[in-house]
Amino acid sequence: MKKELSPELKAVEKYGSDRTCLIPILHEVQKEYRYLPEKALRNIASMLDISLVDVYGVATYFRSFSLEPKGKHTVTCCMGTACHVRNSPGVLEEAKRTLGIDAGETTEDMLFSLETVNCLGACALGPIMVVDGEYHGEVTPAKVKKIIGKVKHQEGRD
Ligand code: FES
Repeated sequence: MKKELSPELKAVEKYGSDRTCLIPILHEVQKEYRYLPEKALRNIASMLDISLVDVYGVATYFRSFSLEPKGKHTVTCCMGTACHVRNSPGVLEEAKRTLGIDAGETTEDMLFSLETVNCLGACALGPIMVVDGEYHGEVTPAKVKKIIGKVKHQEGRD
């Protein structure tokens, strides 16, 4: 029977085993696991012939990497100044209420993670909320309920 290749091995095959390829490899591996498990980091360190400490250094430096398991869907609320003055705190409160978690947490069913960020570069359209990479502008608490409700509905969780 053919053995399935691990995501880290597939990523190294795709990008090569040069240490300069570490960041794209980490991104690729995180896409598969939705976070960076210790075992994968160890495998990457060994395949790229670099120390585990160096791999951890990069994995913890960039905010886009996570060492904790994440939900299937990521909801990100911008809390930068431009969004803040347009009621992003109200948007975040509604997202917390709708999901039943705090910012930085993941729902028990591993369906949603809620995150905050300080500016997404689309200030004119604030407040901004991003769900799985899709930007939603001029979001209100009522819109938050709708947007998250739609994803819950697609998952059969409403
Ligand atoms: S402050 Fe929210 S996009 Fe810039």
